[in-house]
Amino acid sequence: MTNEVQQFDVVVIGGGPGGYAAALYGASAGLNIAIVERDKVGGTCLHRGCVPAKEFLETAHVRRTVEHASEFGINVTEGDVNFATSQNRKNEIVDRLFKGLSGLLKGRKVTVFSGTGRLEADGTVSVVDGSDAGVVARGTNVILAAGSVPRTLPGFDIDGKIVVTSDEFLDLSALPATAAVIGGGAIGCEFASLLSDMGTKVTVLEALPSILAGCDTEVASVVGRSFKKRGIEIRTGANITGHTPKKGATTISVEGGDDVKVDMVVMSVGRRPRTEGLLADGTGVVVDDRGFVVADSLMRTANPHVYAVGDVVAGTPQLAHVGFAEAIVAIKTILGESTVPVDYDRVPWAIYSNPEVAFCGLTEASAKEKGYNVVVKKDPFGGNSRAQIIGETEGVVKIIAEQRADGTAGQILGVHMAGPWVTEQLGAGYFAVNWEATAEEAAALIQPHPSLSETFGETLIALAGRGLHVG
Ligand code: NAI
Repeated sequence: MTNEVQQFDVVVIGGGPGGYAAALYGASAGLNIAIVERDKVGGTCLHRGCVPAKEFLETAHVRRTVEHASEFGINVTEGDVNFATSQNRKNEIVDRLFKGLSGLLKGRKVTVFSGTGRLEADGTVSVVDGSDAGVVARGTNVILAAGSVPRTLPGFDIDGKIVVTSDEFLDLSALPATAAVIGGGAIGCEFASLLSDMGTKVTVLEALPSILAGCDTEVASVVGRSFKKRGIEIRTGANITGHTPKKGATTISVEGGDDVKVDMVVMSVGRRPRTEGLLADGTGVVVDDRGFVVADSLMRTANPHVYAVGDVVAGTPQLAHVGFAEAIVAIKTILGESTVPVDYDRVPWAIYSNPEVAFCGLTEASAKEKGYNVVVKKDPFGGNSRAQIIGETEGVVKIIAEQRADGTAGQILGVHMAGPWVTEQLGAGYFAVNWEATAEEAAALIQPHPSLSETFGETLIALAGRGLHVG
């Protein structure tokens, strides 16, 4: 333990995607960087979020494949789920990635302090607990990348058994027979989907009139229809008033509706910033009324030496890849280089439920709200040959373009997809939206045949005026 102040070019608080990307990118530019991390580098994304959840969703995918194997003439016995094996596999993947990341940081000579970092009024960062407690690091600049934690509802204490958030869910060794997923956003839909595909009876309780409220309505309804077909009960407009646990199960009270009795409640009502204890008095950093750090488009806070990236930043999507992008913007700004701020209205979104959802840019409704006249084309995956070959024909591609004065489709404003492997297909749509391509420009580019991406290509050709298969 030492109180000697250690000097760095940049001290980063938090080693998740925002923090480690800042460290790696800054170190590549020759900056001397320290990260203060209370748990393990990799953060929520690697240890309690994106990566583990996708491993379980892949387990669910394998089970579906086995269930349908006889349609392909492959005779196998029913796919019993041994969730503990999937859990071990997930842990191995996470561990390998964690070791890889730790090695990368070491290779770039990034110092990792173990403990909770606090920004002091004099601009130093103190490590207040953990094995490096007492360390004081001074950075010419500091980057706040402390991330976020799951929210819960009043009366729903997280006990890790009956009431869980994504944090606890991702460490379960067995799945419940019945579950209620509270909140039908990205996390809720991914968990509802994987639980149902692995044999759990699921009820989704969502306060708003629809699940996946941030998505284009047609894309959200593809997921809603698929969920219902698979026996997932979706109750929208649900006002949950509390729950009564009893003998390893609980009964959730919903105003004006039937109670829901389940073995487990999965809470997925959003995430709040982890800013408690992050800032001492007098740092000059401004935090909004919900606890998020206020930053400008170059990720600068109100203190000229302090930046913020990732989930902790106010008013930005809580996505790992947005954190990466913000980290690059922050480091370039620190280096005095010109940089392009993140265009938050045009970042890629990917939800890994079955069916998957991926989108970028304006929805039809948000384009109209912004005053655009629009041309909209959509093409269902049902007619796509590859989709039929793989046996996954649910879904649609929908593209929204600005309508020109002559009525034709001009600049592409939004690309929205639901269906097989759309998270891997969005790249082309992302480029089209962000390159500000017109319908004709994008439609002139060829998609391989037979491929799932042809549905995107077909939609573009139709948008440009004359469809091959779509009217
Ligand atoms: P979210 O904000 O996406 O969804 C929360 C849902 O809970 C909303 O639909 C909301 O209306 C509902 N809700 C809130 N209070 C409620 C109540 N009292 N009763 C019933 N429903 C209620 O948040 P989520 O899904 O927890 O995810 C957190 C963050 O993590 C999101 O910002 C998301 O972007 C990000 N994330 C993204 C993923 C992806 O892109 N694949 C995966 C996981 C998380």
